[in-house]
Parts: sequence; structure tokens; C-alpha cells
Amino acid sequence: MAVLGIETSCDETAVALVSTKREILSQRIWTQQAEHATYGGVVPEIAARAHLQKLPNLLGDVLREGKITLKKLDAIAVTTGPGLIGGLIVGITLAKMLAAMHKIPLIGVNHLAGHLLSPRLQEPCDFPYLCLLVSGGHSQIVLVHGINNVEILGQTLDDAAGEAFDKGAKILGLGFPGGPALAKTAEGGVDKRFHFTSPLASRRDCLDLSFSGIKTALARQVETLKNISAQDKADLAANYEKTIVNFLLKRLSQSLERCHEKQIFPTSLVIAGGVGANHRLQKGLTLLSNDTNTPIVSLNKMLCTDNAAMIAWAGIEGLQEGVYSPLTMRPQPRWPLTEGFFSQ
Ligand code: KG4
Ligand code: ZN
Repeated sequence: MAVLGIETSCDETAVALVSTKREILSQRIWTQQAEHATYGGVVPEIAARAHLQKLPNLLGDVLREGKITLKKLDAIAVTTGPGLIGGLIVGITLAKMLAAMHKIPLIGVNHLAGHLLSPRLQEPCDFPYLCLLVSGGHSQIVLVHGINNVEILGQTLDDAAGEAFDKGAKILGLGFPGGPALAKTAEGGVDKRFHFTSPLASRRDCLDLSFSGIKTALARQVETLKNISAQDKADLAANYEKTIVNFLLKRLSQSLERCHEKQIFPTSLVIAGGVGANHRLQKGLTLLSNDTNTPIVSLNKMLCTDNAAMIAWAGIEGLQEGVYSPLTMRPQPRWPLTEGFFSQ
């Protein structure tokens, strides 16, 4: 069975062909970073136009490389939310048109469900597993019991973790996208010269996340330094990254304890979403796995950041449960995971 996946919810235009046997038969990801770089963030209108411009060629490439014609597709899976409305409309319109013309089953996928299920595309990973979902727009700790069955153990009260990296990089003048730039700069820094306080330090027993305070602390520190050198930037980035990463790992560890208290034993620990590409976070996850005797699924970088393979795979998981979406399905720019994985 071969399913086509289409992802246009933010600033990656992506198309992929995935089989039920966990094979990514072909895929293309067009990152729009250059289009948005001069503005220091994603401009929704520019994103929608770029999706419209790139999508047809990417689709052609994927079908050609996957050696399949549209008629032979078993289904089309497309991101229907959450995300930027303009981009969602571009992807959904293409998917609906192809499905209607060639009578192919259609399934609308929640982008966050795509991230959550991506470990199961990479390797066998039984439910329940504990997932730290950290992207540019979302930060949640999710206990994944099954398809359409999740428990949100903790989530951010303000900014997302990826946003904290992006805004931190902007404050330090490191460019866009901020996460990888800040992580790279931090590599050349000493993480003990500056000290940022861990978020929500006085609230040890809750599983909430928060990143707006540390971002403000960084801005204040930069103001007091006035003439900031390259080494200052590296040292600031190093402690900023360390504080965010340690906080995320602490909350993940507390969440695991909370599961154990309830006699739930997650089969694995996973970090999904763009921030999962962070090396310090991956290293810390390995230590946590050793300490708690809980295996990890270490997602490869491509599966951490936005891609269409995870959307095709989530579609496959839905189809295997007998789920289909109607041609009348709509984009859902706001769509919490607890409201289901697929469009109805
Ligand atoms: O999941 P994703 O590709 O897109 C969204 O759905 O948001 O995540 C993008 C986010 C951005 O905020 C980016 O700065 C962050 O992931 N990111 C990183 C790294 N690579 C990407 N953050 C920290 N370290 C990285 N190496
Ligand atoms: Zn994402």
C-alpha cells in the first residue's frame, strides 16, 4: 500500500510517498527559510504563495522517483491543521482535487499527530509511549496510548520551546531560523559564565512548561552588556540552551515518574518536533533513558522537523483503523490533539 503525504502547514512545502511497510519510497522537502529570513519570522502570505508555487513540481518529482502514477495511489493524506490557514488551503485543495479526479481515498491529518506517530514510522514502537513534542508552535508532554487516544501531561503556559530558541537567536542577532543558529553558536561558548534561572523554578510539582521568562532574562542580560562580543554571544547562547534543555528533560523525567505512580510503564521515550534535532537535548535524553531504564526512539533529524512522510504515515495508521475523511473536510488552523487525529 502506497500513500501520498502532503504537508503545507507552516514554512516547509513537503510531499512524500510512504508504504505500509515503513518505507519512505520518495520524498521532497522545500524549506522556505530564505523567503522568510529578511523578515526574521514566517510571513503567512509569503508562505502560502511559496507552497502554491512549489507544490506541483514536488508532487511530480515524488511520483516519478517513487515510480507510481496517481491512479495507483491507495490514499492521499494531507495536513488539515493546526497551522497557517493560507498554506493549509493550498495543500488541502490539491489533495481534494487529486482525490476527486482519480477517485482516491482521502484522509486529513492533524500535524501534531503526524509528529507524535513519527517514531512508529522509524521503527516498531508500541503504545503507550511518552513523547516530548517540542516545535516552533507547540510544546507538550504527551502520553500516547493509541490512535486518537492521548493524555496531555504538561504543556506550555506561554511560548513554545522552539519559539524560545527563535526569539533568543533574534535577541543575539544570530539570524533565522533561530534554533539551529543558536545551537551552533552555543557550541563555541562556556555554559557557566552566565546563569539563567530555570523556568517555573518554584513550581517543582507541576508539569507545566514556560519559556517567556527566560527570553526576557536574555534580553535584559544583553542590554546590560552593551557592546556584545562574539564570545559573549556564544557564552550567553550556551547557558540559555542548557537552561531550556535541562528544564525540558526535568519535566520529561517528572512525567515518567507520574506515569509510574499510576502503574503505567511507557515502552519508550521520544522527542518529536523541530527542537528534537537539538544535540544537547538528544544527549540528555540518552542519559535519562539510562537512568530510568526506559528505551528511547531517537528520531533522525528529517523526522524531527516538518516533513510529509510523517503525514503519510499517520494517514496509514488512520486508514488501518478504517478512518477516511470526506471531500468536504475543512482546514482547522486551531486543533488540539485531544480533539482527534483525523478530519471528519
Ligand atoms: O516541527 P518544526 O520543524 O516546525 C513546526 O511545526 O514548528 O519545528 C521548528 C522549530 C523552530 O522553532 C526551530 O528553531 C526549532 O524547531 N529547531 C531547533 C533546532 N532545529 C530546529 N531548536 C533547537 N535546536 C535545534 N537544533
Ligand atoms: Zn511541526
